[in-house]
Amino acid sequence: MIRSVVQGCGAYLPARVVTNDELAKKVDTSDEWIRQRTGIRQRHIAAEGEFTSHLALKASERALADAQLKPSDLDLIVLATATPDETFPATATRVQSALGMTRGAAFDVQAVCAGFVYGMSVADSMLKNGLASTALVIGAETFSRILDWNDRGTCVLFGDGAGAVVLKAETGTGTSADRGVLANALHSDGRQHDILYVDGGPSSTRTTGFLRMEGKEVFKHAIVNMAAVVTEVLDRAGLAPTDIDWLVPHQANKRIIDGTGRKLGLSPDQVVVTVDKHANTSAASIPLALETAASDGRIKKGDLVLLEGIGGGLAWGASLVRW
Ligand code: UT7
Repeated sequence: MIRSVVQGCGAYLPARVVTNDELAKKVDTSDEWIRQRTGIRQRHIAAEGEFTSHLALKASERALADAQLKPSDLDLIVLATATPDETFPATATRVQSALGMTRGAAFDVQAVCAGFVYGMSVADSMLKNGLASTALVIGAETFSRILDWNDRGTCVLFGDGAGAVVLKAETGTGTSADRGVLANALHSDGRQHDILYVDGGPSSTRTTGFLRMEGKEVFKHAIVNMAAVVTEVLDRAGLAPTDIDWLVPHQANKRIIDGTGRKLGLSPDQVVVTVDKHANTSAASIPLALETAASDGRIKKGDLVLLEGIGGGLAWGASLVRW
């Protein structure tokens, strides 16, 4: 039984930090409103000329260093993003070239805030099928470029950043004691398009467009779908909520994160929260949170880690990983 085992992880955040108070000078909002409704205190914003591929490259280099591997060891890059450098080619190919990786395949997956769990699932399937042996899975975004900075309902919620993990195919026993990805679960529901989308694109408006969201509606779907998908992925692995060591959720809103943790019966200190510092970085939020908890020593070898996320599509999913 092939398992996709995490060899290392890395993250990168742009240097510029924008606080809630700074935003309150530009739109009709307040630090108090943003903190109470979302838990966000600040976000990082990419500099002029700093693209998604640049953030992805830095996170990838750190992940490779953590894994003690070289770009030439890789034969797959899966990059989850909704904010590619260009309409085509895939931003993953920019990262491939910047890393100096010349073999294998590099492509993007587009599942917005669920992108990282989609990417993990795609890479895991390819490793299991022998299509690749060592993969870089990246979540990288520059959402600041698709925000309507006059819309206080959305512009205060998002930030830029990137995170990456290196997965390597290893032989396991097929039991839930194995290290690596134990199970994945993915879903989408295209009927919910209108509650979270970008009002532009190459085929429709020939513009990039801006993010539009009915926050309250997304919130309701997030609570219901996250509870269902975490149960599904645990069932697939034959494990129970009590087996979980760490919940590393998509970082959109502290209230959604707390709700999922409570439903699983986890104590708050088993839930990794970075939304206060990073805000919602879409596909980057899960690997950024993972890297935070791995590098500060919370997540240890052998721990059971549950990743989950939901975003535009709607698209959602979960991955269960033994670290
Ligand atoms: O990553 C993709 C997944 N996305 C999510 O999971 C986001 C899910 N949704 C949410 O996190 C929350 O719905 C929000 C944080 C977006 C909004 O919180 P809410 O408690 O649902 O607030 P609301 O949208 O119902 O707005 C409440 C009030 C409104 O004013 P009135 O109509 O009550 O007078 C808004 O106009 O807050 C107002 N408001 C703001 N006030 C100050 C909305 N945005 C702001 C703001 N500052 N930035």
